[in-house]
Amino acid sequence: MSLHRSVVVILLAATALVACGCRRDSGSTRTIKLAHVLTDKHPVHKAMVRMAALVQSKTDGSLAVDVRHSAQLGAEIELLEKTRAGSIQMTKISSNALEKYVDEMGIYAMPFLFRDEEHYWKVLDGEIGREIMGKLESVGLKGLVYYDAGARSFYSRGELTKFEDLAGMKIRVQESPTMRKMVEAMGAIPVTIPFGPPLTQALDKGVVVQGAENNPPSYYNQGHHRYCPYYLLDRHSRAPDVLVMNLDAWNSLSDDEKAALTEAARESATYQRKLWDQEVEKLFGKLTDEGVTITREFDREPFFQATAGLYDSLPEERRTWVQKIRSAQ
Ligand code: GCU
Repeated sequence: MSLHRSVVVILLAATALVACGCRRDSGSTRTIKLAHVLTDKHPVHKAMVRMAALVQSKTDGSLAVDVRHSAQLGAEIELLEKTRAGSIQMTKISSNALEKYVDEMGIYAMPFLFRDEEHYWKVLDGEIGREIMGKLESVGLKGLVYYDAGARSFYSRGELTKFEDLAGMKIRVQESPTMRKMVEAMGAIPVTIPFGPPLTQALDKGVVVQGAENNPPSYYNQGHHRYCPYYLLDRHSRAPDVLVMNLDAWNSLSDDEKAALTEAARESATYQRKLWDQEVEKLFGKLTDEGVTITREFDREPFFQATAGLYDSLPEERRTWVQKIRSAQ
């Protein structure tokens, strides 16, 4: 090889490594840093730990995933920006937080959109879920898999056992236009606060917000039930979690590494769905033991009526997606 060609080859190799941002140890293990905001007790975290172990064994240790939990490296949007910039390579983020990057990601949050769990997974695992996931490439991200994030319900510091209790209540929402509109339509006042310590402190003080909404594991594992002992199981939306990777980092992997990572992510998601159901059932018992009033039986009609108008005023494109989702069998 001529000196000129050798220099070009070395430069290309160096560029690929920089673009990936992955760390290569002396033993030639490439490490992908994955950070997220949930605690290490959360079923989604446990699934990612499982994925890391699977990646390690499927690649004979050439690829490793270093999972950082509990917003150690920042809040959700910060982590997404770090992933896009390549200073970390992966994050797990709620589809709601992706709405401002890819509008279609906001569709999953639409109120009472899914008929049941079976319908939800038909959509996410099928053509629609794949097409929406694929749109992340336009913002420099490779979407790897959806994790179950169950159904979101309201909780509050003061009594919350029926629709009318939401009137005028300040409710924390994610940075998602769809979530804001939904909460407004239900008569409450949406306030955006990042998930993690800022939200926990706000719920403790009860000044900026008096309540929030989330799935049972996040409500419990963040300790929100200590300040908000009323949980109204209205299950207004089902926004999944999404595992995303920096697109350049993804493209810098070999075909074998891509296949190993894809398989490991899928297997971890299958494991997580089972874990989710088991853990949620256990959590309801723990929440009751710790003094939470969980309301399961109440008049749901006002929730449906209040939010029906959100479907009437949808822009054409989103209306088409909603029709596709509704007709998925
Ligand atoms: C869910 C989701 C998190 C997200 C959180 C939120 O718990 O799993 O990724 O941060 O909702 O309400 O912000």
